Amino acid sequence: MKTQGILNEEKNIYGPQIQGAHWINSQMITGDRFFKSINSSDHRDIVGSFPSAGKKEIDLAVSAATKAFETWKKMPAPLRGAAIGRLAKVLEREKESLAKIITREIGKPYRESLGEVQEAIDTAQFFQSEGRRLYGQTVPSELPQKELMTYRRPLGVCLMITASNFPFAVPSWKIIPALLAGNTVIWKPSPDAPATALSFALCFEEAGFPSGCINLLFGENETGELLMREVEANRIHKVSFTGSTRVGKKIGEICGRALQNPSLELGGKNPLVILSDAQIDKAVSTSIVSCFGTAGQRCTSTGSIILEDSIYDHFKKKFLEKVDQIRIGNPLLDDKVLYGPLFSERYLSTFLEHLDWGKSEGGHLLRGTGRITSKNPYPHFVGNPDDGWYVSPCVWENVSASMRLFQDEIFGPSINLVRAKNFDHALELANSTAYGLSSAIFTQDPLKMLQFKEGIQAGMTSINNSTTGAEAHLPFVGTKSSGNGTRESGIWVLESYTRWHAVNVDLSSHLQLAQMDVEYGSTGEPIDFQAWVKN
Ligand code: UN1
Repeated sequence: MKTQGILNEEKNIYGPQIQGAHWINSQMITGDRFFKSINSSDHRDIVGSFPSAGKKEIDLAVSAATKAFETWKKMPAPLRGAAIGRLAKVLEREKESLAKIITREIGKPYRESLGEVQEAIDTAQFFQSEGRRLYGQTVPSELPQKELMTYRRPLGVCLMITASNFPFAVPSWKIIPALLAGNTVIWKPSPDAPATALSFALCFEEAGFPSGCINLLFGENETGELLMREVEANRIHKVSFTGSTRVGKKIGEICGRALQNPSLELGGKNPLVILSDAQIDKAVSTSIVSCFGTAGQRCTSTGSIILEDSIYDHFKKKFLEKVDQIRIGNPLLDDKVLYGPLFSERYLSTFLEHLDWGKSEGGHLLRGTGRITSKNPYPHFVGNPDDGWYVSPCVWENVSASMRLFQDEIFGPSINLVRAKNFDHALELANSTAYGLSSAIFTQDPLKMLQFKEGIQAGMTSINNSTTGAEAHLPFVGTKSSGNGTRESGIWVLESYTRWHAVNVDLSSHLQLAQMDVEYGSTGEPIDFQAWVKN
């Protein structure tokens, strides 16, 4: 089977160790400086060695993408859609091998990795047929014998900078619609997930995208900074970034100076409100997944559970009982673990630091022992904890809205239990962070559902469901410090990768000017239709 060829044998992607290379203009381009990708759940397993792109490789990628843009943009959109359709087929066929790479590289449970690839398949299937729409509008003119219309035009070379926590699904949200709209792409994936990125790029290749449409550059911060200079020089025309609010602001500044509008999907501190009439068992089991699934490393992970006073103690008891049963460990050894390791050493140090400052600002740690090691064991652990960056789940109480524990995104398995006097207070607390990505409420009261839906400051809201788990065809979007208002996914993302072109055609035999030669008629007088028709 071709797949096995692409991912296992020819390019040795899922082999024991990968010698990675940039993928530029459909060629493997090696480099001078290399970094290693290590399996987050077992550091003894070196997934591969990958080059860091410098000026030379960036030049090559920008030139390839610029050249490819000239032809790709002219390909009829339905044919670009057909290429996306072929990609969907490759991804379907490769679903398992791709998920294995994701799990091996970042340590996500295999079923979640399958879900990631599925999200990319969903995205590709959605955009395949968008190639047959990509609608513009016909618009009536105020003048006779004149036609107005709009077209979606591609932007040019798009730079995608993506994070390690969703190394497959989130890039697919960006790359697929950008290509469909006629743009070409340079992708700088997270240095924590280069093998995953290379395997994805090879799937585009197999689907038959022309050379230069998608170019993959590996590297760390320095590569990102060099790439942003290409934005300033206007050789890159769009940036789409998923990552921290701090870095997103910097990218926004650079793009702003180049008069570009980047897509910024940033942090979150997502509230999950539970009212006294909620179905408690469902609220407890959903909260466990919402807070601790993916080890809390989703932008959409729950940051605080806000509980109505009257059910606080009851919920806390049931919730802690479940927390105490969470199974953690190496997902390659046991797919029943709720979560595996933290995806990078940086995430580990941020997580460990929060234990110190959380205590010093007065938070009461109900559960949480920090890093799990053989010397600091965790009862339901699978594998050898010393092999990866594993941490136990943290539950805090005595947390008020002004504290960092309530305000800061931790990006790990840490949750606050927060008391609210009543619904209004819960809503006020839910709106009290700088962020506004996802949100949730558990209640059976339809009025409260509606009031929450209207009053919450968030881009996404779940009712009786997790703050995580957005579907691939709804807009994924944050408000406040969670983004700049651009959307990913569904038809809405097309706004991010196209510009509107307004065209008018005058079919008359004489000069006629908008606003000035328009026969509006005067107030109170009947319109002289005969005169108008003769005109
Ligand atoms: C992210 O964390 O960057 O909604 C994306 C979810 C996933 C995507 C998360 N479908 O949880």
